[in-house]
Amino acid sequence: MNFPPVSITFLQSVLKLEEAPVDSGIEIAFAGRSNAGKSSAINTLALRRNLARTSKTPGRTQVLNFFSIDEERRFVDLPGYGYAKVSGETQARWIEALEHYMTMRQSLRGVFLLMDIRHPFMPADRQMLDWCDYRGIAVHIALTKCDKLSRGASLKVLQQAKSMLAREWPQLESSVQLFSSLKRSGVDEAWELLADWLKLQLPEEKDSGT
Ligand code: GTP
Ligand code: MG
Repeated sequence: MNFPPVSITFLQSVLKLEEAPVDSGIEIAFAGRSNAGKSSAINTLALRRNLARTSKTPGRTQVLNFFSIDEERRFVDLPGYGYAKVSGETQARWIEALEHYMTMRQSLRGVFLLMDIRHPFMPADRQMLDWCDYRGIAVHIALTKCDKLSRGASLKVLQQAKSMLAREWPQLESSVQLFSSLKRSGVDEAWELLADWLKLQLPEEKDSGT
């Protein structure tokens, strides 16, 4: 597969779900704790440096940012949850927007859940998994920043994550992989899944050995 298999453009930022693009077609949400690397992952997957804004300061993405693949397909960069240092009021507003999105959005096909491999399955991640479980929405977990751990340590967390999903969310359609935006690793595996969710007709894969 050549990556990215589609071209992605910025569509719209909204504070409330009511302002979001029409709820039709297929949407994939990028979720995760603040600073997990959601915006970086979108850029990495889109092969664009600054499509989604990234930041060293947690809490950068404070709105729902929509990206267009084509008229029927979108990505959405969700606000990062679980960042303690923003005011209670701001936090409450994000959580409301997130919860509203997660419970109401009809075009939501799957959640691409980013978890820092060094701090997986934090309470807010569990909440997200519970929402998806409740609505019957598939989740793909990317254990990101895996460049921060050795290969062996990364594989161990991957295995633990798989067992935890099977044990605690047995009904949830889930999968998990290692990912690094810094090293651009895990991109092929992520696109395989995204292409499936997006029902993309991909050109025949050339055997490039990668
Ligand atoms: P919010 O918008 O605050 O919710 O954060 P976010 O989840 O969008 O995180 P963002 O992509 O802005 O990345 C946060 C920080 O982590 C930035 O300093 C990134 O450069 C860094 N980062 C993201 N992905 C990786 C990765 O794979 N490896 C390493 N080492 N750093 C990463
Ligand atoms: Mg962000």
